Amino acid sequence: MHTRAMVLPTDSRIDLTVPTLAAHVPDYEDDIEKVLISEQEIQDCIRRLGDQISADYKGEDGLIRVGVLKGAFVVMADLARHVRLPIEFDFMAVSSYGVATKTSGVVRILKDLDHEIEGRNVLLVEDIVDSGLTLSYLLKNLRTRRPKSLEVCALMQKTDVQQVPLDIRYRGFEIPPVFIVGYGLDFGERFRNLPYVATLKPEAYEHLVQ
Ligand code: PRP
Repeated sequence: MHTRAMVLPTDSRIDLTVPTLAAHVPDYEDDIEKVLISEQEIQDCIRRLGDQISADYKGEDGLIRVGVLKGAFVVMADLARHVRLPIEFDFMAVSSYGVATKTSGVVRILKDLDHEIEGRNVLLVEDIVDSGLTLSYLLKNLRTRRPKSLEVCALMQKTDVQQVPLDIRYRGFEIPPVFIVGYGLDFGERFRNLPYVATLKPEAYEHLVQ
């Protein structure tokens, strides 16, 4: 699926019949294969998730949203503006991928929470669940800190690749097991600032896959 061409003034020299994959970052244009989830689809989904979270936690004594860096920083920021409740924010930074496009299964905590979560409602926010190993590790780790509740919000979950059973209460999209970038997801730290989720042309990453 391609993004729709923007409506431009008639005197524009841009060919309106050509879908622009990387209007937001022209330098990425050559590497992007196709848009998998459009900006509009993501924003509609985030709004729906925000409504659900607002309804579910209404009347509760506060909520701490924990974002898993780096990828979740975009979904955290957008979701924050659709939850109409008092929220506190905290972040953990973990590493599992390096520069490769397949998970290594090794999860390292690079930054821990700044706040105690004992007796608090905690919502762990992820951009994507792939093998599930990162989330599984983090949930086990956070449960030992005895939160009042611990739930997961993941914008995307890949199908047929999960290696551990997971209960994801708020899930945006099920996606095929392909390598994707954009909306927080990177390849070699590039592409995180695309407002949509896209696949890359194989030639853009093959030479870098370990
Ligand atoms: C991605 C994503 C999840 C993890 C999911 O992070 O943000 O944290 O991989 O993979 P898994 O389900 O196979 O464990 P990544 O390690 O790419 O780091 P980043 O967010 O800093 O880019």
